Amino acid sequence: MTLKENLISAKARGRRQAWLTAYDYPSARLLDESGIDLILVGDSLGMVVLGQKDTIDVTLDQMIHHLKAVRRGVTRAPVAVDLPFHTYETPDQALANARCLVDAGADAVKLEGLLPDQISLLVSSGIEVIGHLGMLPQQVREEGGYHRKGKTDSEAEALLLASLALQKAGCCALVLELVEAPLSREISRQLDIPTVGIGSGPDCNGQILVTPDLLGLQPWFRPSFVKPKADLATPFQNAVKEFIAEVQAS
Ligand code: KIV
Repeated sequence: MTLKENLISAKARGRRQAWLTAYDYPSARLLDESGIDLILVGDSLGMVVLGQKDTIDVTLDQMIHHLKAVRRGVTRAPVAVDLPFHTYETPDQALANARCLVDAGADAVKLEGLLPDQISLLVSSGIEVIGHLGMLPQQVREEGGYHRKGKTDSEAEALLLASLALQKAGCCALVLELVEAPLSREISRQLDIPTVGIGSGPDCNGQILVTPDLLGLQPWFRPSFVKPKADLATPFQNAVKEFIAEVQAS
């Protein structure tokens, strides 16, 4: 079965998708061994690993570098990777760059926005594609922040039509970011492919989070929709302080 067939069949059976991001070998291995459904090498890399203020400056080479590390740690879950900003402006450019990511070990690529021509070409070339609609982090500078989507009737209608267009173009799943919950529910109802939400309410067909947010590893930045399941920053710093004290006392 292809990834798309698996995802559609899981949705039809009511099996929800739990997805998380990884950027390095140990995290990817721990996620895989924990049973996660899909690992995304997100371009959130720029923010949570490289300390940049957004995802805009992440390069294809950086994605390949981190994808290869993740790939080495994963034997079970599908590994998807973001095409970074400005790497899929035309269908041909998208195909050339997506092929580099597949060659580096990706099982699927994700791209942001309503780009059916890019998606159709990738899919007809044998590459699995995950769509991403709603708040598009690669547009954050143009939009002046991270704003919720689908608040007005016209925006909601446009998002629903865009979701249907991405399914028609061949996407295997659709990430919905910061989409109003009733709209996410309606999109999820109308699509055969699963929706995977981030800050988009409980009724998507799955959820995705940035792993350091889930683990409480970056207490200086916590998106309002994230309920961390751990506070790993505290044991991290306690272990470091214990080490410092032990070394200094010896
Ligand atoms: O870059 C990323 O990590 C993402 C997810 C948060 C959806 O696109």
